[in-house]
Amino acid sequence: MDSRSDDLPRLHDAFRALRDALAAEIVGQGALIERLLIALLADGHLLVEGAPGLAKTSAVRALAARLEADFARVQFTPDLLPADLTGTEVWRPQEGRFEFQPGPVFHPILLADEINRAPAKVQSALLEAMGERQVTVGRATYALPPLFLVMATQNPIEQEGTFPLPEAQLDRFLMHVRIGYPQAAAEAEILRLARERARASLHAPAAPPVRMPQADVFAARAAVLDLHLAPAVERYLIELVLASREPARYDAALARRIAWGASPRGSIALERCARARAWLGGRDFVTPDDVRAVAPDVLRHRILPSYEATAEGWDGERLVAELLQRVPLP
Ligand SMILES: Nc1ncnc2c1ncn2[C@@H]1O[C@H](COP(=O)(O)OP(=O)(O)OP(=O)(O)O)[C@@H](O)[C@H]1O
Ligand SMILES: [Mg+2]
Repeated sequence: MDSRSDDLPRLHDAFRALRDALAAEIVGQGALIERLLIALLADGHLLVEGAPGLAKTSAVRALAARLEADFARVQFTPDLLPADLTGTEVWRPQEGRFEFQPGPVFHPILLADEINRAPAKVQSALLEAMGERQVTVGRATYALPPLFLVMATQNPIEQEGTFPLPEAQLDRFLMHVRIGYPQAAAEAEILRLARERARASLHAPAAPPVRMPQADVFAARAAVLDLHLAPAVERYLIELVLASREPARYDAALARRIAWGASPRGSIALERCARARAWLGGRDFVTPDDVRAVAPDVLRHRILPSYEATAEGWDGERLVAELLQRVPLP
């Protein structure tokens, strides 16, 4: 799929309209909406952490409603089995053979709610699907749809009875997004919207929104890959990642605080997300600011604080902030 430049203005308009429609529905969570669109454009998956009731489910549902893409939600629980996610072979006595019943993972937009409540076997079935874009059940392998976006959620409170995702698995998420409570002004708007929705539900159902064809998403992805990335910006991006692996070059104290730096998957994610952000901003080139803006969400889960740093309250987020301060801008 190539990006035809005469089609670019229309694609930009379509994405702007998509963002505006989502922002009108999900108030005061602009960062989450932007991250969802970046993931869509960068062909990656999101891990979202936030308290209950912060519109996580509403946001993915709203996105799915505006794309030509089906949506499924899976609540991860301790008794969930990998087959509940991937699907199973069902015996068809009339035909004398097994038939594959695809599970929810075959939906282009998948919400994996409270991913840390399911045991490792289920988590790795999902992460494998995310990484390999295919699912193996029995002896057969099934390809996932070409558009495949997973948003997994994690609740920061109630850690009891959870199975934290192993570091190696976290790396598979393009971004780890943390969301907080909306501002007071947004809260009033949320109430107004909720009243409006409750009122509307008493009447005839509203006309469904216009849905963006998947072909537009693929064309936009091609345009994102075509953006200009200046060598100096690329060097800056690489240096941020390298600094997480060899922090001693910058600061001995920081080096003691980092146990593990970001992988090449991290640099790829950083480039893709910076590109997607630039494209969403209507630019045809990537700036250092694009890199800095996405770096916290792209890198926080890929940089592991040392044991002693953790004890002192350091987390990936603070370490990324330190790196951003120390690595010189181009
Ligand atoms: N920023 C917001 N804008 C508009 N509505 C919101 C916002 N935040 C919450 N709501 C409303 O609050 C309710 C709860 O939202 P939702 O179910 O999406 O939250 P959630 O983050 O998925 O919660 P949980 O973690 O419990 O699954 C919904 O009715 C939603 O419309
Ligand atoms: Mg929810």
